[in-house]
Amino acid sequence: MILITGCTGFVGSTLVPMLKAKGHIVTGLVRTPNKRRGKPYPDIPMMSGSIMDPTSLERTMKGVDTVIHLVGILLEEGTQSFEAVHHQGTRNVLEAAEKAGVKRYLHMSSLGTREHAASQYHQSKWDAECAVRDSKLDWTILRPSVIFGRHDNFVNQFINMAKFSPALPLLGDGSTQMQPIWVEDVARCFIAALDKPESVGKVYELGGPDRLTFKEILQTILQASGKRRLLIPTPFTVLEAEAWVMERVLPTPPLTQDQLIMAQEDNICDIQEMCETFEVAPRTFRDGLNDYNM
Ligand SMILES: NC(=O)c1ccc[n+]([C@@H]2O[C@H](COP(=O)([O-])OP(=O)(O)OC[C@H]3O[C@@H](n4cnc5c(N)ncnc54)[C@H](OP(=O)(O)O)[C@@H]3O)[C@@H](O)[C@H]2O)c1
Repeated sequence: MILITGCTGFVGSTLVPMLKAKGHIVTGLVRTPNKRRGKPYPDIPMMSGSIMDPTSLERTMKGVDTVIHLVGILLEEGTQSFEAVHHQGTRNVLEAAEKAGVKRYLHMSSLGTREHAASQYHQSKWDAECAVRDSKLDWTILRPSVIFGRHDNFVNQFINMAKFSPALPLLGDGSTQMQPIWVEDVARCFIAALDKPESVGKVYELGGPDRLTFKEILQTILQASGKRRLLIPTPFTVLEAEAWVMERVLPTPPLTQDQLIMAQEDNICDIQEMCETFEVAPRTFRDGLNDYNM
């Protein structure tokens, strides 16, 4: 039995039906099982609980032999800080898994995660990875670049902006590079890792076939939606001031200072090892856009 934490999220809701289609028995843990963020999928047994609560984790691990730990946040809200969710939450999951005799553990990290990372998001993901490396489980860490798919936030926010606005803001001059990977390709890598003993104890960077600047990403989205919009370079100093204000007045700000730190770092990788190990030929960004409701 495979336990997926964060199974109702954007990635989880793609991974669950793909695992089930392969014949795996899947169970899930989230705080609010009825709140689905990603695409709808047939019900699976789901526990309601937080990874910050060791008691709910202990209950959830009964009969589980594999854990796929997806939970992560991009925005800190209340007690859900990066440190609490990414680092302490991962430590709780690892501890409960070890106690319950779980063997295999797949960990969702993020490209750009490294020691002394500039953003709190990446630094807390690094602290989580260190806890995973110290565990006794048969672990594999996967670090995707930005993930896209019909139900994502990333592409959809620009599709929606372009519906109403004659112009879209570029982050800085729009030259930061990313390597968007299709959500089903990410799910394929996780599923393939389950049958690859050689992936135990290893970290994989995941990306799509295209290295695109932020400006090229917006241009590709506009081209796919048949719209012409102005792309306006916006200095990071201006965006930082806007994010500072939004973080103080909005409950869910569309942009944070931490995200702006990441937006100034290229987020690209060599995908040869991913393609060879997991036998994936990742989908291009342009082709993936055909799935969206433009
Ligand atoms: N999306 C990307 O572009 C991207 C790129 C690289 C890496 N990642 C990583 O991929 C993972 C999944 O991302 P996603 O986009 O699928 O996120 P998401 O859509 O926001 O989903 C997050 C999931 O985690 C659950 N969750 C949140 N806090 C929890 C808690 N304390 N205890 C238990 N469950 C909790 C949520 O359900 P409830 O709110 O009901 O608890 C939800 O099911 C994250 O670790 C993220 O950092 C994402």
